Amino acid sequence: MITRRVLVAAAAGAAIARAAPPSWEARPLGAEVTPSSEDTVFVQFDVAQRRTPLPCFGGAAVPMWTYTEGRWPPVIRMNLGSELDVVLRNSLDVPNEHTSIHWHGIRLPNDQDGVPYLVQRPVWPGESFRYRFAPPDAGTFFFHSHCDSVQQMGRGLQGVLIVDGDVTQPYDADVLLLVRDWRLARGAGDFDAFTSPRYAARAGTYGPLRSTNGQSDPLIELPAAGDCRLRLLNTDVTRVMRLRFDRMDAAVVAIDGNPVAPFEFGEWLLAPGKRCDVIVRAPSTGRRAHLVDASVEPPVELARFVGAGPPVRRPEFDPAPLRAARIAPPDLAHARRLEFRFDSTNPSKAVGTGGGAGPAALGDLCLSSGNFWTINEQPWPQRRGSVLPAPIAVLQRGATYVLALRNESDFTHPIHVHGHTLTVLHSTKQDLPPHHADTVLLLPGEEAEAAFVADNPGDWMLHCHVIEHQENGMMAYLRVE
Ligand code: C2O
Ligand code: CU
Repeated sequence: MITRRVLVAAAAGAAIARAAPPSWEARPLGAEVTPSSEDTVFVQFDVAQRRTPLPCFGGAAVPMWTYTEGRWPPVIRMNLGSELDVVLRNSLDVPNEHTSIHWHGIRLPNDQDGVPYLVQRPVWPGESFRYRFAPPDAGTFFFHSHCDSVQQMGRGLQGVLIVDGDVTQPYDADVLLLVRDWRLARGAGDFDAFTSPRYAARAGTYGPLRSTNGQSDPLIELPAAGDCRLRLLNTDVTRVMRLRFDRMDAAVVAIDGNPVAPFEFGEWLLAPGKRCDVIVRAPSTGRRAHLVDASVEPPVELARFVGAGPPVRRPEFDPAPLRAARIAPPDLAHARRLEFRFDSTNPSKAVGTGGGAGPAALGDLCLSSGNFWTINEQPWPQRRGSVLPAPIAVLQRGATYVLALRNESDFTHPIHVHGHTLTVLHSTKQDLPPHHADTVLLLPGEEAEAAFVADNPGDWMLHCHVIEHQENGMMAYLRVE
């Protein structure tokens, strides 16, 4: 049996093996988080089309779909132990465009998970739905719609959920960096088509307009020479980014919201749906540093940082770890193994039906038009009506499972599991310490193993977070009973 203590030690050890040794020594995680409050955070969301001039749009007010007036992205911030109480209203003036909210990475009761038909009724235009749950983990999370997501997320239906309570030693700043692209040209007044069969069957349809917090390459002030927490979120529907900080030391302290013993950030593949909390040593007064995406040539600058104010006096960079999460350690000695292979459909039997996925073609299961992608040779069935396929696996509550995930295709797939937090044990292509995650990035040909205790009963989605892959077949669900 592998205990958290072993995992943490392994994490610190592997971190040092990963790259040239950093100039600092990893400290172990702090004491487990404990709930610090019992209040309720009330939120009202009204999904509507709102013409919004995000700074990155370059002056154009674009017909976004948003949860609220004003600030984008919306940020819910709460203490661990508090309950979240959200009334979601659908005021979209679009026939049949139902919606719901999935709380990505949160280990919540199944009926709060936000997947229409599988766990809740769809919220049709004019209707409302209330979510109430207390997140069990501190960290950086996000939420988004879970139907017609290429369009709904593409137009902006997403937000950030921060649960406080994981800090061992105050940082000098706490900064959100939400990176994503938009499907339009700068200055254009409307979005381009969100998907096309040609790209849905490949890497996905990229948005040409990059953004960080809705801005283009913002200049962010950090307290000079301070140790600052940057919460990186990739909420794009398509793009796997290869992030790097230039001229700034950076240590990973959490992956998908889950604390990990600090290790060097280096170059980091941040896939859609994934988060990474980083501690950086801010530049000295007046000096600059940069965040770039090196997945493209030449690399794209996503944010600039400048050291502001008198230097925060500190010795050498010594990133403070977060407090450990309370995630059940998998019992690997008694684990059962589940194999999932991710692939494209055999082109000779591809069943794409072409474009025209308007509301009428949306179907009750939120699929678009083609089945290009499979899990264990099966695409999510293109069935109209509220008939669900059988679960891809039935799991026994309380047992440990090892997911053997294999990417047999030529494209990358960030594989996301709802309702549970995985312990990623091993991969054939990425040299990462064992860590907790809710989304596992699989490179072409990569195999990875991730374990978890099936301790949350219900039906839980397992899908690719490249949304066009998800909506074109690469989706299934696990049943924990
Ligand atoms: Cu963030 Cu099922 O997704
Ligand atoms: Cu995929």
